[in-house]
Amino acid sequence: MASHAAVDLPQKAACLGASPLPRPARFVPRRAARKAACSASGASRTQKAAVSSGVAAKAAATEAPSANSAASDQGDYSACATTFTTWLIKQEQLGIIDSEFAVVLSSIALACKQIASLVGRAGISNLTGLAGEENVQGEAQKKLDVVSNTVFSNCLRSTGRTGIIASEEEEFPVFVEETYSGNYVVVFDPLDGSSNIDAGISVGSIFGAYLPSEECSMEDAEDGETLLNNCVLNVCQPGNMLKAAGYCLYSTSTVLVLSVGNGVFGFTLDPLIGEFVMSHPYMQVPESGKIYSFNEGNYDMWDDDVKAYINSLKDPDKWGGKPYSSRYIGALVGDFHRTMLYGGIYGYPGATNAPNGKLRLLYECAPMSFLAEQAGGMGSTGKERVLDIDPTAVHQRVPLFIGSKKEVEYLESFTMGK
Ligand code: AHG
Ligand code: MN
Ligand code: MN
Repeated sequence: MASHAAVDLPQKAACLGASPLPRPARFVPRRAARKAACSASGASRTQKAAVSSGVAAKAAATEAPSANSAASDQGDYSACATTFTTWLIKQEQLGIIDSEFAVVLSSIALACKQIASLVGRAGISNLTGLAGEENVQGEAQKKLDVVSNTVFSNCLRSTGRTGIIASEEEEFPVFVEETYSGNYVVVFDPLDGSSNIDAGISVGSIFGAYLPSEECSMEDAEDGETLLNNCVLNVCQPGNMLKAAGYCLYSTSTVLVLSVGNGVFGFTLDPLIGEFVMSHPYMQVPESGKIYSFNEGNYDMWDDDVKAYINSLKDPDKWGGKPYSSRYIGALVGDFHRTMLYGGIYGYPGATNAPNGKLRLLYECAPMSFLAEQAGGMGSTGKERVLDIDPTAVHQRVPLFIGSKKEVEYLESFTMGK
Protein backbone atom coordinates (compact mmCIF):
# COMPACT_ATOMS: atom_id res chain seq x y z
CA MET A 1 0.00 0.00 0.00
CA ALA A 2 1.38 3.44 -0.91
CA SER A 3 2.54 5.76 1.81
CA HIS A 4 0.75 9.01 2.29
CA ALA A 5 3.76 10.92 1.00
CA ALA A 6 3.55 9.10 -2.34
CA VAL A 7 0.10 10.45 -3.00
CA ASP A 8 0.35 13.44 -5.29
CA LEU A 9 -2.63 15.47 -4.15
CA PRO A 10 -3.64 18.56 -6.06
CA GLN A 11 -4.21 21.80 -4.20
CA LYS A 12 -7.70 20.74 -3.29
CA ALA A 13 -6.30 18.17 -0.88
CA ALA A 14 -7.36 20.49 1.90
CA CYS A 15 -10.87 19.49 0.90
CA LEU A 16 -10.46 16.36 2.94
CA GLY A 17 -10.26 18.32 6.15
CA ALA A 18 -7.76 17.60 8.90
CA SER A 19 -6.46 14.38 7.37
CA PRO A 20 -5.89 13.80 3.65
CA LEU A 21 -7.14 10.25 3.94
CA PRO A 22 -10.64 8.92 4.38
CA ARG A 23 -11.38 5.96 6.58
CA PRO A 24 -9.00 3.08 5.86
CA ALA A 25 -11.87 0.60 6.06
CA ARG A 26 -13.20 1.93 2.76
CA PHE A 27 -10.07 1.09 0.72
CA VAL A 28 -10.66 -0.98 -2.38
CA PRO A 29 -8.36 -3.42 -4.17
CA ARG A 30 -6.54 -2.33 -7.29
CA ARG A 31 -8.64 -4.51 -9.61
CA ALA A 32 -11.83 -2.84 -8.40
CA ALA A 33 -10.15 0.50 -8.91
CA ARG A 34 -9.39 -0.26 -12.56
CA LYS A 35 -12.96 -1.40 -13.14
CA ALA A 36 -14.30 1.79 -11.61
CA ALA A 37 -11.91 3.84 -13.71
CA CYS A 38 -13.27 2.38 -16.97
CA SER A 39 -16.88 3.12 -16.14
CA ALA A 40 -16.10 6.57 -14.84
CA SER A 41 -14.34 7.77 -17.97
CA GLY A 42 -17.03 6.33 -20.22
CA ALA A 43 -19.81 7.90 -18.24
CA SER A 44 -18.09 11.23 -18.27
CA ARG A 45 -17.99 11.40 -22.07
CA THR A 46 -21.56 10.26 -22.53
CA GLN A 47 -22.89 12.60 -19.91
CA LYS A 48 -21.07 15.61 -21.29
CA ALA A 49 -22.66 15.03 -24.67
CA ALA A 50 -26.12 14.49 -23.26
CA VAL A 51 -26.22 17.23 -20.69
CA SER A 52 -24.92 20.15 -22.69
CA SER A 53 -26.59 23.40 -21.75
CA GLY A 54 -27.71 23.93 -25.34
CA VAL A 55 -29.72 20.73 -25.36
CA ALA A 56 -31.19 21.50 -21.96
CA ALA A 57 -32.30 24.98 -22.98
CA LYS A 58 -33.87 23.76 -26.21
CA ALA A 59 -35.66 20.94 -24.43
CA ALA A 60 -36.95 23.32 -21.79
CA ALA A 61 -38.54 25.50 -24.41
CA THR A 62 -40.22 22.48 -25.99
CA GLU A 63 -41.37 21.03 -22.71
CA ALA A 64 -42.88 24.08 -21.00
CA PRO A 65 -46.34 24.17 -22.61
CA SER A 66 -47.15 20.49 -22.03
CA ALA A 67 -46.07 20.62 -18.35
CA ASN A 68 -48.22 23.68 -17.79
CA SER A 69 -51.22 22.17 -19.50
CA ALA A 70 -50.81 19.06 -17.33
CA ALA A 71 -51.07 21.31 -14.29
CA SER A 72 -54.32 22.78 -15.60
CA ASP A 73 -55.84 19.30 -15.73
CA GLN A 74 -56.60 19.44 -12.00
CA GLY A 75 -59.87 17.74 -11.34
CA ASP A 76 -59.77 15.74 -14.55
CA TYR A 77 -59.59 12.23 -13.10
CA SER A 78 -59.31 10.62 -16.51
CA ALA A 79 -55.89 12.22 -17.00
CA CYS A 80 -52.84 10.35 -15.77
CA ALA A 81 -50.90 12.55 -13.36
CA THR A 82 -47.30 13.42 -14.15
CA THR A 83 -45.37 11.58 -11.47
CA PHE A 84 -41.71 12.02 -10.66
CA THR A 85 -41.06 8.72 -12.41
CA THR A 86 -42.80 9.70 -15.64
CA TRP A 87 -41.12 13.11 -15.54
CA LEU A 88 -37.71 11.44 -15.19
CA ILE A 89 -38.45 9.25 -18.20
CA LYS A 90 -39.43 12.34 -20.16
CA GLN A 91 -36.17 14.08 -19.25
CA GLU A 92 -34.32 11.01 -20.46
CA GLN A 93 -36.26 10.98 -23.74
CA LEU A 94 -35.41 14.65 -24.23
CA GLY A 95 -31.70 13.93 -23.73
CA ILE A 96 -31.45 16.15 -20.66
CA ILE A 97 -30.33 13.29 -18.41
CA ASP A 98 -29.16 9.77 -19.19
CA SER A 99 -30.62 6.57 -17.78
CA GLU A 100 -27.83 6.20 -15.20
CA PHE A 101 -28.56 9.63 -13.77
CA ALA A 102 -32.30 8.92 -13.75
CA VAL A 103 -31.58 5.92 -11.51
CA VAL A 104 -29.59 8.10 -9.10
CA LEU A 105 -32.36 10.71 -8.89
CA SER A 106 -34.96 8.01 -8.47
CA SER A 107 -33.04 6.58 -5.52
CA ILE A 108 -32.93 10.03 -3.92
CA ALA A 109 -36.71 10.30 -4.26
CA LEU A 110 -37.03 6.90 -2.58
CA ALA A 111 -34.81 8.05 0.30
CA CYS A 112 -36.99 11.14 0.70
CA LYS A 113 -40.14 9.03 0.90
CA GLN A 114 -38.58 6.86 3.60
CA ILE A 115 -37.37 9.88 5.58
CA ALA A 116 -40.81 11.53 5.28
CA SER A 117 -42.30 8.42 6.82
CA LEU A 118 -39.72 8.34 9.64
CA VAL A 119 -40.16 12.06 10.38
CA GLY A 120 -43.94 11.69 10.47
CA ARG A 121 -43.76 8.85 13.01
CA ALA A 122 -40.77 10.11 15.02
CA GLY A 123 -42.85 11.03 18.07
CA ILE A 124 -44.36 7.56 18.37
CA SER A 125 -41.40 5.44 17.35
CA ASN A 126 -38.69 6.59 19.74
CA LEU A 127 -36.97 8.64 17.05
CA THR A 128 -36.99 12.02 18.77
CA GLY A 129 -34.09 13.31 20.83
CA LEU A 130 -30.34 13.04 20.64
CA ALA A 131 -28.33 10.16 19.24
CA GLY A 132 -25.59 10.74 21.82
CA GLU A 133 -22.83 11.58 19.31
CA GLU A 134 -21.46 14.74 17.73
CA ASN A 135 -20.79 15.14 14.01
CA VAL A 136 -17.47 16.44 12.71
CA GLN A 137 -18.74 19.99 13.02
CA GLY A 138 -19.29 19.59 16.74
CA GLU A 139 -23.09 19.55 16.44
CA ALA A 140 -25.05 17.13 18.60
CA GLN A 141 -26.62 14.61 16.26
CA LYS A 142 -30.31 13.86 16.61
CA LYS A 143 -31.42 10.25 16.22
CA LEU A 144 -33.12 11.23 12.99
CA ASP A 145 -29.93 12.87 11.66
CA VAL A 146 -28.21 9.50 11.95
CA VAL A 147 -31.10 7.42 10.63
CA SER A 148 -31.71 9.77 7.70
CA ASN A 149 -28.03 9.65 6.79
CA THR A 150 -28.16 5.85 6.70
CA VAL A 151 -31.31 5.87 4.57
CA PHE A 152 -29.84 8.36 2.08
CA SER A 153 -26.52 6.50 1.87
CA ASN A 154 -28.12 3.10 1.45
CA CYS A 155 -30.51 4.27 -1.27
CA LEU A 156 -27.63 5.81 -3.22
CA ARG A 157 -25.39 2.76 -2.74
CA SER A 158 -28.10 0.41 -3.93
CA THR A 159 -28.24 2.09 -7.34
CA GLY A 160 -24.70 1.05 -8.21
CA ARG A 161 -24.40 4.38 -10.02
CA THR A 162 -23.00 6.58 -7.29
CA GLY A 163 -19.21 6.62 -6.97
CA ILE A 164 -18.73 9.01 -4.07
CA ILE A 165 -21.06 10.43 -1.46
CA ALA A 166 -20.46 13.27 0.96
CA SER A 167 -22.81 14.03 3.81
CA GLU A 168 -23.12 16.57 6.58
CA GLU A 169 -23.03 13.63 8.97
CA GLU A 170 -19.83 12.02 7.63
CA GLU A 171 -16.39 13.45 8.35
CA PHE A 172 -14.97 12.45 4.97
CA PRO A 173 -16.45 11.70 1.56
CA VAL A 174 -17.13 7.99 1.20
CA PHE A 175 -16.11 5.92 -1.79
CA VAL A 176 -18.97 3.61 -2.76
CA GLU A 177 -17.50 0.19 -3.44
CA GLU A 178 -20.76 -1.19 -4.78
CA THR A 179 -20.78 1.15 -7.78
CA TYR A 180 -20.42 -0.38 -11.22
CA SER A 181 -21.56 2.34 -13.58
CA GLY A 182 -22.07 6.07 -13.71
CA ASN A 183 -19.95 7.00 -10.71
CA TYR A 184 -21.91 10.15 -9.96
CA VAL A 185 -20.85 12.26 -7.01
CA VAL A 186 -23.69 13.05 -4.63
CA VAL A 187 -23.55 15.51 -1.73
CA PHE A 188 -26.36 15.77 0.79
CA ASP A 189 -27.68 17.11 4.05
CA PRO A 190 -29.89 14.17 5.02
CA LEU A 191 -31.94 16.07 7.57
CA ASP A 192 -31.89 19.85 7.56
CA GLY A 193 -33.33 21.80 10.46
CA SER A 194 -33.25 18.79 12.75
CA SER A 195 -33.44 21.00 15.84
CA ASN A 196 -37.11 21.38 14.86
CA ILE A 197 -37.85 17.66 14.95
CA ASP A 198 -39.03 17.26 18.51
CA ALA A 199 -41.52 20.13 18.03
CA GLY A 200 -43.00 18.66 14.87
CA ILE A 201 -41.92 21.67 12.78
CA SER A 202 -40.82 21.56 9.14
CA VAL A 203 -37.55 19.88 8.26
CA GLY A 204 -36.05 18.77 4.96
CA SER A 205 -33.27 17.10 3.00
CA ILE A 206 -30.92 18.83 0.52
CA PHE A 207 -28.86 17.22 -2.25
CA GLY A 208 -26.63 17.98 -5.20
CA ALA A 209 -25.15 15.69 -7.88
CA TYR A 210 -22.00 16.10 -9.97
CA LEU A 211 -20.24 14.16 -12.70
CA PRO A 212 -16.89 12.66 -11.74
CA SER A 213 -14.35 15.48 -12.08
CA GLU A 214 -11.53 15.20 -14.62
CA GLU A 215 -9.15 15.72 -11.71
CA CYS A 216 -10.12 12.25 -10.59
CA SER A 217 -7.38 10.43 -12.51
CA MET A 218 -8.36 6.91 -11.57
CA GLU A 219 -6.51 5.57 -14.60
CA ASP A 220 -3.24 6.55 -12.93
CA ALA A 221 -4.08 5.24 -9.49
CA GLU A 222 -1.46 2.76 -8.30
CA ASP A 223 -3.56 1.31 -5.52
CA GLY A 224 -6.82 1.70 -3.67
CA GLU A 225 -5.41 4.28 -1.30
CA THR A 226 -4.31 6.55 -4.14
CA LEU A 227 -7.58 5.98 -5.90
CA LEU A 228 -9.50 7.07 -2.88
CA ASN A 229 -7.43 10.17 -2.36
CA ASN A 230 -7.89 11.20 -5.97
CA CYS A 231 -11.57 10.47 -6.06
CA VAL A 232 -12.70 12.15 -2.92
CA LEU A 233 -11.38 15.35 -4.45
CA ASN A 234 -14.31 15.05 -6.84
CA VAL A 235 -16.58 16.24 -4.13
CA CYS A 236 -15.00 19.67 -3.98
CA GLN A 237 -16.51 21.06 -7.16
CA PRO A 238 -18.04 24.52 -7.54
CA GLY A 239 -21.82 24.73 -7.70
CA ASN A 240 -21.64 25.82 -11.33
CA MET A 241 -20.69 22.19 -12.13
CA LEU A 242 -23.86 20.75 -10.54
CA LYS A 243 -25.86 18.47 -12.84
CA ALA A 244 -28.81 18.36 -10.47
CA ALA A 245 -29.81 19.80 -7.13
CA GLY A 246 -32.90 19.70 -5.00
CA TYR A 247 -34.53 19.48 -1.63
CA CYS A 248 -37.40 17.64 -0.04
CA LEU A 249 -39.61 19.44 2.48
CA TYR A 250 -41.23 17.35 5.21
CA SER A 251 -44.08 19.53 6.41
CA THR A 252 -47.87 19.66 6.10
CA SER A 253 -47.09 17.95 2.82
CA THR A 254 -43.92 16.30 1.53
CA VAL A 255 -42.63 18.24 -1.47
CA LEU A 256 -39.67 17.24 -3.63
CA VAL A 257 -38.25 20.20 -5.57
CA LEU A 258 -35.40 19.73 -8.01
CA SER A 259 -33.68 20.91 -11.14
CA VAL A 260 -31.58 19.09 -13.72
CA GLY A 261 -30.66 22.38 -15.38
CA ASN A 262 -33.84 23.14 -17.29
CA GLY A 263 -35.96 24.92 -14.71
CA VAL A 264 -37.24 23.89 -11.29
CA PHE A 265 -40.01 21.35 -10.75
CA GLY A 266 -41.91 20.51 -7.59
CA PHE A 267 -43.60 17.20 -6.81
CA THR A 268 -45.94 16.60 -3.87
CA LEU A 269 -46.06 13.15 -2.30
CA ASP A 270 -49.53 11.64 -2.72
CA PRO A 271 -49.77 9.33 0.29
CA LEU A 272 -52.61 7.39 -1.31
CA ILE A 273 -50.49 6.11 -4.18
CA GLY A 274 -47.03 6.59 -2.62
CA GLU A 275 -45.84 8.64 -5.57
CA PHE A 276 -44.47 12.14 -6.00
CA VAL A 277 -46.93 13.91 -8.31
CA MET A 278 -46.03 17.09 -10.19
CA SER A 279 -47.56 20.03 -8.35
CA HIS A 280 -45.20 22.94 -9.16
CA PRO A 281 -44.08 22.90 -12.82
CA TYR A 282 -41.47 25.50 -13.82
CA MET A 283 -41.22 27.19 -10.44
CA GLN A 284 -40.16 30.82 -10.60
CA VAL A 285 -39.15 32.76 -7.52
CA PRO A 286 -40.97 36.13 -7.62
CA GLU A 287 -38.64 38.91 -8.73
CA SER A 288 -39.15 40.67 -5.40
CA GLY A 289 -40.99 39.98 -2.16
CA LYS A 290 -41.29 41.82 1.14
CA ILE A 291 -40.31 39.00 3.50
CA TYR A 292 -36.89 38.64 5.12
CA SER A 293 -35.78 35.49 6.88
CA PHE A 294 -32.75 35.97 9.14
CA ASN A 295 -31.94 34.85 12.69
CA GLU A 296 -32.02 38.35 14.15
CA GLY A 297 -30.80 37.07 17.50
CA ASN A 298 -27.34 37.39 15.93
CA TYR A 299 -27.86 41.04 14.96
CA ASP A 300 -25.23 42.51 17.28
CA MET A 301 -22.59 40.16 15.82
CA TRP A 302 -23.23 41.08 12.16
CA ASP A 303 -21.19 43.47 10.03
CA ASP A 304 -22.40 47.06 9.95
CA ASP A 305 -23.47 46.78 6.31
CA VAL A 306 -25.79 43.83 7.10
CA LYS A 307 -27.18 45.71 10.11
CA ALA A 308 -27.83 48.75 7.92
CA TYR A 309 -29.58 46.56 5.35
CA ILE A 310 -31.89 44.95 7.93
CA ASN A 311 -32.61 48.36 9.48
CA SER A 312 -33.65 49.67 6.09
CA LEU A 313 -36.13 46.79 5.62
CA LYS A 314 -37.78 47.74 8.92
CA ASP A 315 -38.12 51.44 8.10
CA PRO A 316 -41.81 52.09 7.32
CA ASP A 317 -41.03 55.45 5.72
CA LYS A 318 -38.90 53.73 3.13
CA TRP A 319 -41.60 51.29 2.05
CA GLY A 320 -44.78 53.36 1.85
CA GLY A 321 -45.73 52.81 5.48
CA LYS A 322 -45.46 49.01 5.43
CA PRO A 323 -42.05 47.57 6.25
CA TYR A 324 -40.90 44.08 5.33
CA SER A 325 -42.29 41.11 7.29
CA SER A 326 -39.99 38.79 9.22
CA ARG A 327 -40.46 35.01 8.92
CA TYR A 328 -37.92 32.53 10.30
CA ILE A 329 -38.48 28.82 10.83
CA GLY A 330 -34.84 27.97 11.52
CA ALA A 331 -34.81 25.23 8.89
CA LEU A 332 -33.25 26.27 5.59
CA VAL A 333 -35.47 23.99 3.50
CA GLY A 334 -38.67 25.41 4.99
CA ASP A 335 -37.50 29.02 4.85
CA PHE A 336 -36.18 28.58 1.31
CA HIS A 337 -39.33 26.84 0.05
CA ARG A 338 -41.46 29.73 1.31
CA THR A 339 -39.06 32.17 -0.37
CA MET A 340 -39.34 30.26 -3.66
CA LEU A 341 -43.12 30.53 -3.56
CA TYR A 342 -43.73 33.95 -1.98
CA GLY A 343 -40.51 35.78 -2.81
CA GLY A 344 -38.21 37.64 -0.43
CA ILE A 345 -34.78 36.85 0.94
CA TYR A 346 -33.25 34.25 3.26
CA GLY A 347 -29.97 35.20 4.89
CA TYR A 348 -27.38 33.65 7.17
CA PRO A 349 -24.62 36.27 7.37
CA GLY A 350 -21.16 35.97 8.83
CA ALA A 351 -20.85 37.18 12.42
CA THR A 352 -18.05 38.12 14.81
CA ASN A 353 -18.17 34.63 16.32
CA ALA A 354 -18.53 32.88 12.92
CA PRO A 355 -17.15 34.99 10.04
CA ASN A 356 -18.47 32.57 7.42
CA GLY A 357 -21.87 32.07 8.99
CA LYS A 358 -23.27 28.64 9.72
CA LEU A 359 -24.41 27.09 6.47
CA ARG A 360 -22.27 24.65 4.52
CA LEU A 361 -21.28 25.45 0.93
CA LEU A 362 -21.31 21.97 -0.55
CA TYR A 363 -24.59 20.49 0.60
CA GLU A 364 -26.63 23.54 1.65
CA CYS A 365 -25.61 26.79 -0.07
CA ALA A 366 -24.57 25.51 -3.52
CA PRO A 367 -27.61 23.23 -4.20
CA MET A 368 -30.02 25.92 -2.99
CA SER A 369 -28.26 28.58 -5.09
CA PHE A 370 -28.48 26.31 -8.15
CA LEU A 371 -32.24 26.05 -7.59
CA ALA A 372 -32.59 29.79 -6.94
CA GLU A 373 -30.84 30.64 -10.20
CA GLN A 374 -32.79 28.02 -12.14
CA ALA A 375 -35.95 29.71 -10.83
CA GLY A 376 -34.81 33.22 -11.82
CA GLY A 377 -33.47 34.19 -8.39
CA MET A 378 -29.99 34.62 -6.93
CA GLY A 379 -27.66 33.08 -4.36
CA SER A 380 -24.85 35.29 -3.01
CA THR A 381 -22.38 35.44 -0.13
CA GLY A 382 -22.87 39.19 -0.17
CA LYS A 383 -19.55 39.46 -2.00
CA GLU A 384 -19.80 36.89 -4.77
CA ARG A 385 -22.02 34.39 -6.55
CA VAL A 386 -22.25 31.22 -4.46
CA LEU A 387 -22.04 28.94 -7.52
CA ASP A 388 -18.64 30.38 -8.46
CA ILE A 389 -16.92 29.40 -5.22
CA ASP A 390 -14.33 26.63 -5.52
CA PRO A 391 -14.69 24.61 -2.31
CA THR A 392 -11.58 24.14 -0.21
CA ALA A 393 -13.11 21.81 2.38
CA VAL A 394 -16.03 19.40 2.43
CA HIS A 395 -17.71 21.08 5.37
CA GLN A 396 -16.72 24.64 4.43
CA ARG A 397 -19.14 27.35 5.54
CA VAL A 398 -20.02 30.51 3.62
CA PRO A 399 -22.42 33.39 4.29
CA LEU A 400 -25.64 32.99 2.31
CA PHE A 401 -28.17 35.48 0.95
CA ILE A 402 -30.67 33.83 -1.36
CA GLY A 403 -34.03 34.38 -2.96
CA SER A 404 -35.68 37.00 -5.18
CA LYS A 405 -33.27 38.64 -7.60
CA LYS A 406 -34.17 42.22 -6.66
CA GLU A 407 -33.96 41.47 -2.95
CA VAL A 408 -30.51 39.87 -3.17
CA GLU A 409 -29.32 42.73 -5.39
CA TYR A 410 -30.60 45.19 -2.78
CA LEU A 411 -28.66 43.33 -0.07
CA GLU A 412 -25.53 43.44 -2.26
CA SER A 413 -25.98 47.21 -2.64
CA PHE A 414 -25.07 47.35 1.06
CA THR A 415 -22.46 44.59 1.23
CA MET A 416 -20.71 45.45 -2.03
CA GLY A 417 -21.46 49.17 -2.08
CA LYS A 418 -23.08 48.77 -5.51
P1 AHG B 1 -28.81 21.28 10.08
O1 AHG B 1 -30.01 20.93 10.91
O2 AHG B 1 -28.71 20.47 8.83
O3 AHG B 1 -27.53 21.34 10.87
O4 AHG B 1 -29.03 22.75 9.51
C1 AHG B 1 -29.50 23.74 10.36
C2 AHG B 1 -29.31 25.05 9.69
C3 AHG B 1 -30.42 25.46 8.73
O5 AHG B 1 -31.37 24.53 8.48
C4 AHG B 1 -31.07 26.64 9.40
O6 AHG B 1 -31.41 27.58 8.45
C5 AHG B 1 -30.05 27.09 10.34
O7 AHG B 1 -29.26 26.01 10.69
C6 AHG B 1 -30.65 27.66 11.56
O8 AHG B 1 -29.62 28.11 12.39
P2 AHG B 1 -29.94 28.99 13.67
O9 AHG B 1 -30.60 28.09 14.66
O10 AHG B 1 -28.58 29.48 14.10
O11 AHG B 1 -30.84 30.13 13.24
MN1 MN C 1 -28.80 21.80 7.13
MN1 MN D 1 -28.58 18.35 8.64
